[in-house]
Amino acid sequence: MDVYDTIGISYTRTRQPDPRIAAQIAAALADAADVVNVGAGTGSYEPPHTVLAIEPSRVMITQRPPGSAPAVQAVAEHLPLPDRAVDAAMALLTVHHWTDPAAGIAELRRVARRRIVVLTWDQRIFRENFWLVRDYLPQAAEFDDARAMDLDRLTDLLGGARREPVPVPHDCTDGFGAAYWRRPHAYLDPRVRAGISMLAQTGEHALAPGLARLADDLNTGRWHTRYADLLSHDSIDVGYRLVIADLA
Ligand SMILES: C[S@@+](CC[C@H](N)C(=O)[O-])C[C@H]1O[C@@H](n2cnc3c(N)ncnc32)[C@H](O)[C@@H]1O
Repeated sequence: MDVYDTIGISYTRTRQPDPRIAAQIAAALADAADVVNVGAGTGSYEPPHTVLAIEPSRVMITQRPPGSAPAVQAVAEHLPLPDRAVDAAMALLTVHHWTDPAAGIAELRRVARRRIVVLTWDQRIFRENFWLVRDYLPQAAEFDDARAMDLDRLTDLLGGARREPVPVPHDCTDGFGAAYWRRPHAYLDPRVRAGISMLAQTGEHALAPGLARLADDLNTGRWHTRYADLLSHDSIDVGYRLVIADLA
């Protein structure tokens, strides 16, 4: 059973595509005639010219909105598509879940004719710049150390790529790891944590002491004093990157 058959049950409750991030992804795919979305989940960020979604979790597939692209239950490592089947392949916030990322990226290169767009993050920047994992939940950072995709390795696997920073807006509607950087109370909500695999998979027991400290710092006002400068920012760079490869 795919891990998202368990942790994905309430995915759409907190994980709605953010329009600003959607615009950035759409721009990266604008000149593609057709797109396959790999690790598609519930269909966030799929441009209208998406022809197929690949997703291993049945629970995620059943949450795809009516009218979205057809979905096939399969994994990135074995894409059920012929060579050079589509103009572009996209893989958003999914590569860190793959059993064999090298095999999955090789498959993206096999099926795409012109472009591959991957959304992932730089774990070093994330650890340094995101107060939640740096100051409260180092266990979650350690969990991600083991699975985060190294961007230099990803670039090599893609045969070269450019990187675009993906700033996280303060009111980001897609509740991924750092989405609530300016809304710290959200991390105390178990429904929010359930939509963030880094937290859901690290486990409540390991997170409890750090979350208790966060709750205390919010109650006493210490959090707002310590992170006062953050409150004046509309968006921040905590390491999320769009990695874009143009294929020969
Ligand atoms: C955080 S969700 C992201 C979903 C969607 N791309 C989005 O941006 O909302 C990660 C997705 O990757 C999927 N996944 C896990 N292992 C996979 C694999 N080996 N191949 C393809 N997708 C996988 C999960 O089932 C889950 O739906």
